[in-house]
Amino acid sequence: MNLGLTGKHALVTGASSGLGLAIATALMAEGTSVTISGRSAARLEAAIAQLPDALRPLCDYVEADFADPGVVDLLIEGARRRTGQVDILVNNTGGPPPGLASAVDPDVMAAHYGTMVDPVIRLTLKLLPQMRAAKWGRILTVASSGVVQPIPHLPVSNALRASVLAFMKTLAGEVARDGVTVNVLAPGRIGTARTQALDAGAAERAGKTVEEIAAASRATIPAGRYGAPAEFGATAAFLAGQPASYITGSTIRIDGGMIRSV
Ligand SMILES: NC(=O)c1ccc[n+]([C@@H]2O[C@H](COP(=O)([O-])OP(=O)(O)OC[C@H]3O[C@@H](n4cnc5c(N)ncnc54)[C@H](OP(=O)(O)O)[C@@H]3O)[C@@H](O)[C@H]2O)c1
Repeated sequence: MNLGLTGKHALVTGASSGLGLAIATALMAEGTSVTISGRSAARLEAAIAQLPDALRPLCDYVEADFADPGVVDLLIEGARRRTGQVDILVNNTGGPPPGLASAVDPDVMAAHYGTMVDPVIRLTLKLLPQMRAAKWGRILTVASSGVVQPIPHLPVSNALRASVLAFMKTLAGEVARDGVTVNVLAPGRIGTARTQALDAGAAERAGKTVEEIAAASRATIPAGRYGAPAEFGATAAFLAGQPASYITGSTIRIDGGMIRSV
């Protein structure tokens, strides 16, 4: 299938590793040039260095921390260096720490609002006018299965991602007629550094090995395994593509059947 993505330019935030990098790679494989971002130039350069030779020229980066006040302008300026515009925005951020909802620290919640919600909304709003004027745009946001079925021990993630989801759904209804689609990706358990860290934390809490925790987790997934980042990236690339032009305002699960509800 031709996704019609050759010559487009994407900004993929939080893309030095994991899901963000997998999305960026899948977009590049479709001929899209991509600006990736993260907090460390060294990690971003390492990510670009491990790309296949044919994709590397399609990728540049911006070092930008979502915790910094000037992050949105920095990202936009960096992303526009190549073609002057951003056709595809992929909002991906780091995830918050686990813990009990009954013991959540409101200051931690507020700080993560500042890195996971506020800059995502600001970035989206700043890139939107150009997409609407062009009558073409794609806004994808990486959330979590927790927006459908809240995940125990991840109260900050569950609450803040629900907020982003509601915003994106509202926005989708306003911009569909301008050719801009707005969708949210809900990963279940995809094998990345973040999943490994969460499993390690759960193992410590339960006095079990990481493999015991991972096996118990796999047992709850109908597919019987964690997803591969490339499977996640491919879904995102499809949603960014031309054939997905009638999909908007949706939350797409990439979860091997893990979420129990319809
Ligand atoms: N993997 C899953 O199964 C899964 C499931 C549900 C939800 N999620 C969520 O999906 C997102 C991506 O997951 P992942 O597994 O790919 O996580 P990951 O491997 O930890 O990657 C997170 C990315 O975000 C960047 N990042 C973190 N904090 C940042 C900040 N303050 N400013 C700018 N960039 C920042 C990281 O780069 P630097 O460290 O280099 O800055 C990295 O590129 C996370 O929010 C995660 O919680 C993942």
